[in-house]
Amino acid sequence: MDAYFGGFGGRYVPELLVPPLDELEEAMGRLFADPTFTGELRGLLESYAGRPTPLTFCPTLSERLGIELWLKREDLLHSGSHKINNTLGQALLARRMGKTRLVAETGAGQHGVATAVAAARLGLDAVICMGAVDVERQAVNVSRMRLLGAEVRSVTDGTRTLKDAINEALRDWIATQRTTHYCFGTAAGPHPFPTLVRNLQSVIGKEIKEQALEAWGGPPRLVCACVGGGSNSIGAFHEFVGDPEVRLVGVEAAGTGEPGCYNSAPLNLGRPGILHGQLSMLLQTDDGQVLPSHSVSAGLDYPGVGPEHAWLKSTGRVEYAMANDGEALEAFRTLTRLEGIIPALESSHALAWVIGNAGTLGPGAKVVVNLSGRGDKDLGIAEERFGEGFM
Ligand SMILES: Cc1ncc(COP(=O)(O)O)c(C=O)c1O
Repeated sequence: MDAYFGGFGGRYVPELLVPPLDELEEAMGRLFADPTFTGELRGLLESYAGRPTPLTFCPTLSERLGIELWLKREDLLHSGSHKINNTLGQALLARRMGKTRLVAETGAGQHGVATAVAAARLGLDAVICMGAVDVERQAVNVSRMRLLGAEVRSVTDGTRTLKDAINEALRDWIATQRTTHYCFGTAAGPHPFPTLVRNLQSVIGKEIKEQALEAWGGPPRLVCACVGGGSNSIGAFHEFVGDPEVRLVGVEAAGTGEPGCYNSAPLNLGRPGILHGQLSMLLQTDDGQVLPSHSVSAGLDYPGVGPEHAWLKSTGRVEYAMANDGEALEAFRTLTRLEGIIPALESSHALAWVIGNAGTLGPGAKVVVNLSGRGDKDLGIAEERFGEGFM
């Protein structure tokens, strides 16, 4: 299995982490070739998580924008986001590897909830590391994880967000690797995680392709998804990378949008660097210190990004744009009011880009936005921003 995407990726880890990563790579190769394993995973995704998710047409927004806007409804999955595609796969893999415990990081809490759900279903213990800032801004998800039986560990180092939660989870894994699998939440980190998570999420793009063929007889003109660590976007794009007719746009978080503000857009504003075991694009100072990131959406608030995206940017196959906090919040409100669907603030960044650029996409263009999650967890932030009138 190749550890690199072009020059990006690799496995830049302390020696203590090499054995569990090797063990994982070996198990992946063996189990994904085993029809009993893949059949069990497919069964769980269908009967437990709710796959396939629908491709929903948006009549009112389409008319306003002059395009045909369709949403891939990952928000309808059990536990509220695409993260469950990954955690069910990794939890099943961990159990087959004889592990009894999962450790995971979480930002928005969606990956933490999805890990806690998979652990409860498959009889595994779960420890979720979460930055103290995120524990506060995603309180509902913290309660859900605790109710599901997971231990939530609040991390008070550094910026107290996702980056620091990953550091804590890696530290735990170094000490507990005999019994524990690190259920990594995005298509980033040391090899083989970017490939493992991409493969588990690529069900999204495969379904989009089939559903588009059924709905209008061909591929979409454009597929758009938000990019945090990069798992929902690579999952939506992977099936189309070899099809040059389909334009692919990933949307990063530009932060507040003020000049010089902190942001979460390493593909647009970063440089190559190493963080969390991989070489990829990274927000950093001139002398290579990792910069703090910012986004109104906790799930995008990360200074790095998966290496396959860094490569797809370098080849020009995928375009990477940005949307800021205000644009995402406005898109959140627009979709809620016009279509009756409350999107996650993360996914709202992709919607914001499509809304802002619809005029350039060609009349009637068939555009798919990957709605990676639902926005129930973000109601507190929306209320703070828009006031009680909105609610
Ligand atoms: C709903 C939702 N969308 C997107 C993301 C960003 O992650 P990724 O880029 O791995 O899809 C998150 C992360 O928590 C999320 O909860």
